[in-house]
Amino acid sequence: MTTRRKLIAGNWKMNGLKADGLALAKGVAEVLAAGPAPACDMLVCPPTTLVALVADAVAGSKLAVGGQDCHAKTSGAHTGDTSAAALADLGCGYAIVGHSERRTDHAETDAVVKAKATAAQAAGLVAIVCIGETLAQRDAGQTLEVNRRQLRGSLPDAATPENTVIAYEPVWAIGTGRVATPAQAQEVHAAIRAELAAILGAGPAARLRILYGGSMKPDNARELLALPDVDGGLIGGAALKVADFWAIAQSA
Ligand code: 13P
Repeated sequence: MTTRRKLIAGNWKMNGLKADGLALAKGVAEVLAAGPAPACDMLVCPPTTLVALVADAVAGSKLAVGGQDCHAKTSGAHTGDTSAAALADLGCGYAIVGHSERRTDHAETDAVVKAKATAAQAAGLVAIVCIGETLAQRDAGQTLEVNRRQLRGSLPDAATPENTVIAYEPVWAIGTGRVATPAQAQEVHAAIRAELAAILGAGPAARLRILYGGSMKPDNARELLALPDVDGGLIGGAALKVADFWAIAQSA
């Protein structure tokens, strides 16, 4: 018996100016309010520049707002960075940390990701901790080992099912249109949950949500979201259109 409520999360990445970001967020909040309510939680993670605008626009709706990254420190001399407390202050409930694009573009290690996730939790945010193997690692048969290692290295010490979500995002499936097969996704999600059970205990592991991310679209969401250990999606491209994002939520 699972009591996990699915989470459908949009990661807008570095897309959107004020007008289109506002229209997208309002569009999602409006379809959500119009009902029938989907059987999932919904979240949008706009670029930092739009977080305040979006959070204000959807305040009081059922749509949650999150950041795409946060700094490990609460304040100080970190030019260009954003603290978790500042995201919370704007109305965020979540922060994505350790996305593969951050790991690649900004050389973020598991230790850095863990520190960021810890900071997010300390600020009262749910940390969405991203892990996932590259194509070379998959081809070398290292998929489960890589994901277990990233999970162990990135998971905060105080992780609970309430303050942590894991996102499994195979790097080769991100933005490529190449999606993990249901068998591939379920295999890794089950391995992640088994590893969580070894770290946190079986009870918490059974309640902690594990999202799939990587070319999730309306036409493949239903079978991915029906898998026993897939508790939602972290969606890039398809989260930039109200109709697509909504269609994915409805298949949850
Ligand atoms: P796409 O859905 O565009 O493949 O992006 C997935 C992703 O990276 C979400 O964080």
